[in-house]
Amino acid sequence: MESIKINTEIKVYNNLNELPENFQQLLSSAEEAMHKAHAPYSNFKVGAAVLLNDGTVVQGNNQENASYPAGTCAESVALNYASAMNPNAKVVAIAIQTKHPTTPQEIPSMPCGICRQAILEYQHKGGQDIVILTRSEKGLIYMANSVNNILPFAFDKDAL
Ligand code: THU
Repeated sequence: MESIKINTEIKVYNNLNELPENFQQLLSSAEEAMHKAHAPYSNFKVGAAVLLNDGTVVQGNNQENASYPAGTCAESVALNYASAMNPNAKVVAIAIQTKHPTTPQEIPSMPCGICRQAILEYQHKGGQDIVILTRSEKGLIYMANSVNNILPFAFDKDAL
């Protein structure tokens, strides 16, 4: 028997001001987008902000539906919109801010599996690693330097 082991890393920051200015602004943009979420069913609000290589920032937020599976996550809204509007731009980073309906979270929420897969798609499309930043309501920040760090053993175009 052999095994394949993966070593991964998420960086942890206690304060926004430990990050470079452009990432601070991106997290602020995600927070702004979060307040505009359409989340009447879960009341769990998520905002995302995508930074493109030309400096453009594209916002998204969760868009829920009375038919629950028809809803879309914030990260996917922002990434799909960014690619639709700027098909030639490369995604540099995505920032995420969440708000729990009742209990402010200590630990930042991570993108769901489908959104990790969406980030992987745009990482391949752009040909460069995408930085993922996610911030809890209490201000703790997790940062992954690539989607590879949070989606090991991924299904991608090489399988097709
Ligand atoms: N949600 C996101 O927007 N992003 C994620 O990565 C996880 C979950 C949304 C979907 C739904 O509207 C709400 O959060 C609760 O699951």
